[in-house]
Amino acid sequence: MKLFIDTADINEIKEIASWGILDGVTTNPTLLAKCGRSLQDVIDEIFKLVDGPISLEALSEKAEDMVTEAKQIISKIPQNYRKNVAIKIPMTSEGLKAVKILCKEGIKTNVTLIFSANQALLAAKAGATFVSPFIGRLDDNGQEGMRVIEEIMEIFCNYDIQTEVIVASIRHPIHVIESARLGADIATVPPDVLRKMIKHPLTDAGIKSFLKDWEKVKK
Ligand code: E4P
Repeated sequence: MKLFIDTADINEIKEIASWGILDGVTTNPTLLAKCGRSLQDVIDEIFKLVDGPISLEALSEKAEDMVTEAKQIISKIPQNYRKNVAIKIPMTSEGLKAVKILCKEGIKTNVTLIFSANQALLAAKAGATFVSPFIGRLDDNGQEGMRVIEEIMEIFCNYDIQTEVIVASIRHPIHVIESARLGADIATVPPDVLRKMIKHPLTDAGIKSFLKDWEKVKK
């Protein structure tokens, strides 16, 4: 399973990219607002740090405006990084129309704010490169988010659908394990959850005792 980082925080992306585990980045307006820096600066840095799909959100409501916005976003990215841009398009009928047009023009799309398998199926049929089901928000709403991933994976597998599933809105490490067990293509994971995935108390205790015993070894 590929791992994307779900943040616009450059320091976090820099640090976690150095672990050698990152395959891409997802951002959204909330994450960009949190980092408090100029949008274009942040975007330029992200593309230099990670060589993989980078999702940037289009916020227009009409299909033709989404397409124009997508092209504007891409035009501001240096030519050599453009292959990595994925335009986030919201799951609406206008969004589907935009995905169809962008797909024909060879522009990658990530259909976002997906909360059901039917939405994922429609996005895939319109030509989405990626679909992003938001599992944490479903859990918050009293539904089991992971069941939606199970349904999407089953349907995409039944019909050999090439659209990749990005498990989004991940809240804890078990979400990542379950995504991988279900065969999701990608999990986009916030930095704090990636840090938790490293840790195990027995690893820490093991390092401590090995260091202690190393002192006793005759050298
Ligand atoms: C990623 O593409 C999504 O924007 C993100 O995972 C949403 O996460 P949240 O539900 O924690 O805001």
